[in-house]
Amino acid sequence: MSTKKAKKSFFGGFAPGGFSCYPMRMEMPRRPFGSTGVEVPIVGIGTWMMERDGDKAVETLRRAVDEGATHIDTAEMYGSGEVERIVGKAIHDARDRVFLVSKVMPSNATYDGTIRACERSLKNLGTDRLDLYLLHWRESTPLAESFRAFDKLVADGKILRFGVSNFDIGDMEEAERVAGKGRIACNQVLYHLQERMIEFDIIPWCERHGMAVVAYSPYGQGDFPSPHSPGGWRLREIAESRKATPRQVALAFLLRQKNIFAIPKTSNVDRLLENIGAANLRLNDEEIRAIDATFPALRRDSLPML
Ligand SMILES: NC(=O)c1ccc[n+]([C@@H]2O[C@H](COP(=O)([O-])OP(=O)(O)OC[C@H]3O[C@@H](n4cnc5c(N)ncnc54)[C@H](OP(=O)(O)O)[C@@H]3O)[C@@H](O)[C@H]2O)c1
Repeated sequence: MSTKKAKKSFFGGFAPGGFSCYPMRMEMPRRPFGSTGVEVPIVGIGTWMMERDGDKAVETLRRAVDEGATHIDTAEMYGSGEVERIVGKAIHDARDRVFLVSKVMPSNATYDGTIRACERSLKNLGTDRLDLYLLHWRESTPLAESFRAFDKLVADGKILRFGVSNFDIGDMEEAERVAGKGRIACNQVLYHLQERMIEFDIIPWCERHGMAVVAYSPYGQGDFPSPHSPGGWRLREIAESRKATPRQVALAFLLRQKNIFAIPKTSNVDRLLENIGAANLRLNDEEIRAIDATFPALRRDSLPML
């Protein structure tokens, strides 16, 4: 996606005396996507399970692009290709404005399997290229084989860059050794208020090595803190003082770091506007400390994933 071609669009943002989740329209902030040289919107949209949502999904994806949330994350696995077809339908007349991401399943990640999987994804999506292609998670295929296929796809113009997902630090170190420095665009990992383990290692490592970190399931999928829990109460308190919503506060907390991108999934336009409204909410140090104390980061034995 070229930054120059990206259409400027506007959405809810700061209002006098605080933050307003809808009325004022502001430009979607972008930031460098690792060291790729591409600027990507800090809030995009995920698509897992969109095959259940029918036309609402298409409408919401189109609106996401119009509002500047042009980072669309999908995968061959989602709905066995059906979600890629939904995305393709939504973006066919806006392809150049989209930062389009898909993923190859590890069971397809041999050299030939990766090439074939990518060609299927391109067909499903109705496009000739992906902006980013990810290895969905790691299994037994040697990384060198999958990355050799990614190199071929880059050389053929079928993908513009590649990255990984659900890689822990050991995997990242090996991946960089195999691919070469500066070749891996990002690591897409689980990151939400109640799962902050990547703050200990993945986030600082990726920043040092020029890789973006994409936060998946930024609302914990179905596990967002209930308004009646102590954490939910804390989020509501901060949200009310900023004329925002608890979900916007939660997303803004993740996005406080300069190398993070979030891809909340929704097939509901009002929720989409709420989610992208978080992109212009800057929490102050006191608010960040309060959230940090309420949802402490915990170390775990292995990288959590869904
Ligand atoms: N790389 C990986 O292994 C991996 C794993 C998981 C996810 N992902 C990617 O990350 C994306 C996001 O993660 P996710 O889908 O697991 O979970 P999520 O974005 O944390 O949460 C999605 C859920 O929250 C609801 N929701 C969204 N915005 C809302 C709002 N403002 N108010 C109330 N509810 C709201 C959605 O329902 P509605 O649609 O009904 O609004 C949906 O049920 C995925 O869609 C996928 O693209 C990648």
